[in-house]
Amino acid sequence: MKTTGNTIFISGGSAGIGLAIAQKFSALGNKVIINGRNTERLEKALTKLSNAVAIQGDLSIEADRIRIAEDLKANHPDVNMIINNAGAAFGYLLSETTNAHKKAEIEMNTNYIAVIHFTELMLPHLLTKDVAVIANVSSLAVFGSHKFLPTYGATKAALHCYTVALRMTYEDTKNLQVYEIYPPLVNTAFSAEIGGENGIPPEEVADEFLIALENNQFEVPVGETKKYAAAVAEAISKIS
Ligand SMILES: NC(=O)c1ccc[n+]([C@@H]2O[C@H](COP(=O)([O-])OP(=O)(O)OC[C@H]3O[C@@H](n4cnc5c(N)ncnc54)[C@H](OP(=O)(O)O)[C@@H]3O)[C@@H](O)[C@H]2O)c1
Repeated sequence: MKTTGNTIFISGGSAGIGLAIAQKFSALGNKVIINGRNTERLEKALTKLSNAVAIQGDLSIEADRIRIAEDLKANHPDVNMIINNAGAAFGYLLSETTNAHKKAEIEMNTNYIAVIHFTELMLPHLLTKDVAVIANVSSLAVFGSHKFLPTYGATKAALHCYTVALRMTYEDTKNLQVYEIYPPLVNTAFSAEIGGENGIPPEEVADEFLIALENNQFEVPVGETKKYAAAVAEAISKIS
């Protein structure tokens, strides 16, 4: 996949991993469209980017997803890459809460249902492009449970299964590439309550995604995730 001259929508592009990806691709000569809920945060992020615009909206809300997709198609019809990066996570202990099901519902809605719906909204448009990309940001959490993120991992595992199914569905459609980016612990506000300061910088995720795009490498495990992805791939190769 070419890494310049694209028009790229990045959900959650005003901070953390999304902003790092926006900065990298903006510097490479792509147009970037960043999204987030907080307008001030978006405005601040735009000062760090060139050839960039923002679309405010909460992707966990169905009406916002429809509005954002309509805005993209009407005002940025060149959009050919969608990076589904915005996510939700609650750090807590199952022994210290009585509403884990409510937290799980919010996480599942943002990390899984919203991505499926937004993809459905944008897919017909993307399929009109010479080459289009959908990149979903999952997590190292796909590969195991975390005591302090007890309901988050399953949402990213669900996103992983969906992403693989989407890739398989369109594998004969030469103009659609489906990527999955699996960050390990990354030093962002998102991970602050689970020791995120020990994580890798978000720029490392952006760098790995860029290399993956250059190589049409659809699975993008980053940092520590590589050893888990390799172990799973080896185990599967032995039974298939
Ligand atoms: N940090 C980690 O250790 C880590 C590890 C593995 C995977 N991930 C995944 O990486 C993704 C990005 O995480 P991050 O660490 O970069 O988080 P972050 O630094 O907190 O940034 C999150 C971004 O998403 C936006 N956002 C959050 N909820 C949104 C919503 N409902 N609709 C639209 N925008 C929304 C935020 O802006 P507003 O708040 O203004 O909306 C912000 O721009 C998430 O999917 C996360 O699960 C993170």
